[in-house]
Amino acid sequence: MQLIKNCLGQSHDIAERIVKEGDKVVDATAGNGNDTVFLAKLIGETGKVYAFDIQEKALEKTKEKLKSQSLEHRVELIKDGHENMGKYVNGQVSLAMFNLGYLPGGNHSICTRFQTTKKAIEAAMELLKKNGLVILVVYYGGDSGFEEKDALMDYITTIDSRNYSVLRSEFVNQPNCPPLLVLIEKLM
Ligand SMILES: C[S@@+](CC[C@H](N)C(=O)[O-])C[C@H]1O[C@@H](n2cnc3c(N)ncnc32)[C@H](O)[C@@H]1O
Repeated sequence: MQLIKNCLGQSHDIAERIVKEGDKVVDATAGNGNDTVFLAKLIGETGKVYAFDIQEKALEKTKEKLKSQSLEHRVELIKDGHENMGKYVNGQVSLAMFNLGYLPGGNHSICTRFQTTKKAIEAAMELLKKNGLVILVVYYGGDSGFEEKDALMDYITTIDSRNYSVLRSEFVNQPNCPPLLVLIEKLM
């Protein structure tokens, strides 16, 4: 087994460290439900996951996966853009997880886009409690192109360093644009 995990694996390791039983968390891109299931286990019986996707197909897949593990009561599935998360989430969250790109196995033209992603990140940063994290796993290249990733990498450098700490991590010697990882921690 490799010591340095891929960015998705790293995102899960970090989430495991910071999410506690009873926490509220956001899965901003439910997709096929893998992260939603992972988060539903972390928050335990007393926490809550708010999971967003704009595609019915994605939410159905997510619901199925949750049901197969008897976790559906821990999750509110929301068919709306993550940029509107402020309308749905009650109270503060310890984590907001984003997997940017398109639904694997779905229509590649329905994908996350910079303008709505930026609004969603800003909404998530507002909802974070102190030392809470926004985690972005950014898929790009291929059918996703570079537009969202390039704009996003510029945007994250403008986030106020007095209030948030921002880290970007990526493999620099791998082919085929492996996803990169961005962490945004709320400092106060
Ligand atoms: C890379 S997939 C997510 C994979 C998912 N985390 C999983 O575990 O399978 C990205 C998802 O973002 C969704 N999406 C695109 N724009 C969105 C938006 N504005 N709000 C919420 N979801 C969006 C897509 O429909 C797609 O299902």
